[in-house]
This record gives sequence, structure tokens and C-alpha cells, in this order.
Amino acid sequence: MTPTPDLSGRIALVTGASRGIGYFVARRLASAGAHVIAVARTVGGLEELDDEIKSERRKSGKGEATLVPLDITDMAGLDRLGGAINDRWGKLDMLVINAAVLGVISPIGHVEAKTFEKVMTVNVTSTWRLIRSVDPLLRLSDAGRAAIVTSSLANAPRAFWAPYAASKAAAEALMRSWAEETVNMPLRVNAFDPGRTRTAMRAQAMPGENPETVPHPSETAAHIMPLVDPKLTETGKIYQAKTQRFLSYRLPE
Ligand SMILES: NC(=O)c1ccc[n+]([C@@H]2O[C@H](COP(=O)([O-])OP(=O)(O)OC[C@H]3O[C@@H](n4cnc5c(N)ncnc54)[C@H](OP(=O)(O)O)[C@@H]3O)[C@@H](O)[C@H]2O)c1
Repeated sequence: MTPTPDLSGRIALVTGASRGIGYFVARRLASAGAHVIAVARTVGGLEELDDEIKSERRKSGKGEATLVPLDITDMAGLDRLGGAINDRWGKLDMLVINAAVLGVISPIGHVEAKTFEKVMTVNVTSTWRLIRSVDPLLRLSDAGRAAIVTSSLANAPRAFWAPYAASKAAAEALMRSWAEETVNMPLRVNAFDPGRTRTAMRAQAMPGENPETVPHPSETAAHIMPLVDPKLTETGKIYQAKTQRFLSYRLPE
């Protein structure tokens, strides 16, 4: 595993920080010294995160959190969040777009319209809206780093996973376009494929699975580090936690 970069004095925004992978990503970034802006709807989960970060800070002197209870489908709220970060810090160093929903595992023709729309709103439209809100702030960082959490299903969809797979493919397309636009800047933009991880989403998708056979989110979260490292050079790629490698997309013919 890559050595932990020193993120002291750097500002990170993590969505879906109330539980699962996002919670442990937020803790990881804070333990490396970052000030984490933690976004989710569940205040209890955010407060638990804050308690952990404060307790770690008492020992190491590192890490801080600002809690932002927000539904990421509140598009105007995402716009305001960018404005608030600008007012307070005048830049953003790291963005981890992690919050997402699974929707339903079902034959494509049985998916209800409201379920499909919800998956697309949370996983795609909010991703675009948040990118739009903070892109100028990431460009103001000396080493802006963005990671959009994806799934192998984006490039290898399976039966019954259509809405989720389509949403992850769309989010990756946003990532790749953004990476192309910023290729000559310090900003680096990649996708993070966490692989199967023991979370509420995994339990919803695989109710029959023994959770003990699936990696804990604290293990998965450790693999985010290469993507936020100020020394990172890669952009427009997928970093796969399982192999700890960057995967390139096939070039167009
Ligand atoms: N677990 C896996 O095996 C696996 C595999 C591949 C990819 N992934 C990806 O990894 C990421 C994290 O998933 P997870 O497994 O950790 O899921 P999870 O445990 O269900 O956590 C999802 C997080 O997203 C937040 N969220 C959902 N809807 C939101 C909304 N409308 N507004 C704000 N926050 C919202 C939740 O917070 P609140 O409910 O508090 O708002 C929660 O913090 C996702 O992008 C997922 O697609 C997971």
C-alpha cells in the first residue's frame, strides 16, 4: 500500500460520510491531517464521525471535521455549499463523491420510474451539480484531487443491475470529460472502484451473503489515499482498490 501522504492544512469534501465507505474515507483523510467537510443526511452518523475525528485529534493533533447535514438531491444546497467553502477557505483540495444509492435489483422492465429517477438523481445529477459547484475551488488548489466512487458494474453491467450500472457508467463519463478538460492543470480527476465492501448497500444488494466474508469499509477506505495524494500524476482513470492499480480506458478507434 502507498505510504500515507501528509494532508495537514488541506481541505477535503466527502459525500456519504455518515456510514460505510464514506465514513471511513473521511476518518482516513482526517487522520492524515485534513479538514474534512462531511456531507450526508444522517446527523447521528456525522456526529459519530466528528467524535472519532476529535478523539484521534486529541492523540495525534491532526484532523478536523465540519459537518454538513444535506440531502445531495437538494441541488440549490449543493450550489450553496460551494459558496460556503469559498467564503471560508477560498479553495478546495480534495473532493470524494461517494454518496450513492443502489435502487433495486430487478429485471429492467420491472423497475419503477420513481426508483430509476432517484438512482439517476442521487448518483448522476448530484454528481454533476457538485462538480459544477466546486470545480472552480479545486482549480484554486495547488494540487486539487477529485475521486468519484464507481463500481465495476459501470463497465461490466450484470443482469438485474441496470439502473445502478447505468448511473455509475454516467458518473464515470462525467469524470472522464472533466479529467480531459483539466488535463493541463494541477487538478487530477479519477474514479475509485472500492470493490465489494461490508456496508448497508452491500447487504441490500446481497442479502444472502455472510458479511464476514466481505472486506470491512475501513480496509477499503485505506485505498483512497493514492487518489488524494498531492504527488498523484494520473488523471481520467479508474483506481481499483482490489488490485491497487490504475486502469486506463480504451482509446477511441
Ligand atoms: N459496498 C460495496 O460493496 C460497493 C461496491 C462498489 C461500489 N460501491 C460504492 O461505494 C459508495 C459508498 O457505498 P456504501 O457501500 O458505503 O453505501 P452505504 O453504506 O449505503 O452508504 C451510502 C452513503 O451515501 C449517503 N447518501 C445516500 N443518499 C444520500 C442523499 N440523498 N444525500 C446525502 N447523502 C446520501 C448515505 O448517507 P445518509 O443516508 O446519511 O444520507 C451514506 O453515508 C457508493 O458510491 C457505492 O456505489 C460500494
